[in-house]
Parts: sequence; C-alpha cells; structure tokens
Amino acid sequence: MADAATSITPDEAARLLAQGEVVAIPTETVYGLAADATNPAAVAKIFAAKGRPSFNPLISHVADFSQLHELVETDERARLLAAAFWPGPLTLVLPRKPGCPVAETVSAGLPSLAIRLPAHPIAHAILAQLGRPAAAPSANRSGHVSPTTARHVWDSLGTTMPVVDGGACPVGLESTVIGLTGPDTLLLRPGGLAAEKIEAVLGQKLKLPMDGKLESPGMLLKHYAPSRPVRLDATAAQGREGLLSFGPALPGFAAYYVLSETCDLAEAAQKLYAGLHQLDREDLDGIAVMPIPEQGLGSAILDRLRRAARGR
Ligand code: TXA
Ligand code: MG
Repeated sequence: MADAATSITPDEAARLLAQGEVVAIPTETVYGLAADATNPAAVAKIFAAKGRPSFNPLISHVADFSQLHELVETDERARLLAAAFWPGPLTLVLPRKPGCPVAETVSAGLPSLAIRLPAHPIAHAILAQLGRPAAAPSANRSGHVSPTTARHVWDSLGTTMPVVDGGACPVGLESTVIGLTGPDTLLLRPGGLAAEKIEAVLGQKLKLPMDGKLESPGMLLKHYAPSRPVRLDATAAQGREGLLSFGPALPGFAAYYVLSETCDLAEAAQKLYAGLHQLDREDLDGIAVMPIPEQGLGSAILDRLRRAARGR
C-alpha cells in the first residue's frame, strides 16, 4: 500500500514540539501523541487529533527529576516509587503546585497532575531537548486500541501525522497509574508495572478507587476496543473467530496470533495490542482469547481485554 507516511527524527520532533505542534513518539509502553504541556493551544491539538473528551486528563512526561519540583507536591510515597521505578512504566498522580506551568486543560480542571519519566531512549532524548514537560496520551483515536508500532499510529490517526519510528514498544501496555493525592494509595489504572511490585516497595496494599468517583476519568470510558467482538476465557471456537493464544494454541480457529507460547506474561503484554490490531484487520466474526492468569501483568492484560470486550 503506497502512502505518504514517513518517520521524522527525534531532533525534528523536539523542534516541532517547541513550535506548538503535535508529534507521535515511541515510549517503552505505547506510542504517545505529544505536545508541549505548557502551551494550551498545543494541548488542544492533542484532544482534537484523538477525538478525546476534554474531561479526560493527560499525563505529563519529563526527562528528569529536576523538572518535577515546579510541577507537583511530592511526598514520601512518591519519592520511594520514583526511586524504585523511574524511569519506567509508572505514572504518579500528585497535587499540582501553585504556579505549575502545565496548562490546566492537561489536568482537565483537576487540582492534580499525572507525571511520568519514560525509560525509552528516544522519548528521553526528545524530552531532554524540549526542556519542558510534554503531555502525551496514547497515539490513537479515543476509545480504540493503543499503538505499539509507528504503523499502528498512522493507521489510527492518518499518514500525515509526524511519527518518530522507534520500532515496537518493549512493554506494550500503558503505564500503571497510581493516585497519591490523598491518604490512600490508589491503583487508578493497572498497567505495564505489576501492582504487586509497587505494593512490595510501599509495604502496603493498593486501594481501588471508589466506584463512580472521578478518580481517573479515563477509566470510565469505552477503551481499547477493536471493531470486532472480543470473547475471554475461550476453550473452543464459536463461529469464524481468530484466537489470541496463551500457551499451546487451541485447534479449530480461523486465524491465530500467539501472545506467548510459553505462558510468559511480559511477552503477552508486549504483543497484546499488535495481536488485537492484526486480528481486527482479518475477515472474522470475532476475537477469542485463551484464559490468562489474574496476577502480575496478567491483571493489566485482563483489564484491557475486559474493556475491549465491553467497549463496542
Ligand atoms: O504509558 C502511558 O501511560 C502512555 C504513554 C504515552 O506514556 N500514555 C497514556 O495516556 O496511556 P492516556 O491519556 O491514554 O491515559 C492516561 C490515564 C487516563 O486513564 C487518565 O484518566 C489518567 O491517566 N489521568 C491523567 N491525569 C490524571 C489525574 N490528574 N487524575 C487522575 N487520573 C489521571
Ligand atoms: Mg489511551
């Protein structure tokens, strides 16, 4: 298929960001649609390009710790988690500092700000050159499957979108989002860092946000949805289904995508969205998924699959 999609360099990306443009960049989790978080007009372009509701706040990405102090109030929990897991697939939601230069639309009007220090070398280089925080949601149309390759970004947002092609994202699931704005430590979104690892560092269990409270507004939305029905815990084919296999594949399906032959949850997480993208392009009645254990990264994989199953 001939198209105009061409990759830009990290240097070009940093210059476009400084000029108030949006660009898609690779991170270790998924590709992000980045804009200068301190420029409200640039941030508005993210919401427009994604078709994202303005009540759903964005994560601000920074290159190093020194950028944090003018943005948010930190506490002992934040310091412990940052020391243990940054740079990496962890987002901390903290109170905004008075005078925080990040646009209020990034927080969707909330008094808090979500912050992440990504580990991907290309993301790090772009953020360091920009010298300002970059807001970046996943680089897909709102509600659709997140992108883990440059091709996924162009398929979702169009081939005119400037993308820095960094290959496939190594983690493959969005960051784990932890809420630190109150006395309880909240798991706002399971993700690429297993909740058990966070609990081990904090020495306490994470709490789930109370139902219906707008703790993490994005989690109330239809999300991660391919265009075909998704069915979990499949043990046999029903009609013309494609199978996402975990362990030795079941026979009798019309198409296959192997998440992990050896039941390796990190491998399955890394391949999950590529599998959903691939099976969604084939002529199938639906996508079936073999049972996946609810532990470690399995909990985050199941979170995404359950949303995909009910999202249509
Ligand atoms: O791995 C990731 O987190 C990727 C890469 C690009 O960094 N980004 C990403 O962004 O997944 P997005 O916008 O798709 O998801 C951000 C999540 C949403 O569930 C949003 O509601 C939540 O973080 N969030 C952001 N700011 C928040 C805040 N102030 N309070 C509570 N939740 C917040
Ligand atoms: Mg997203």
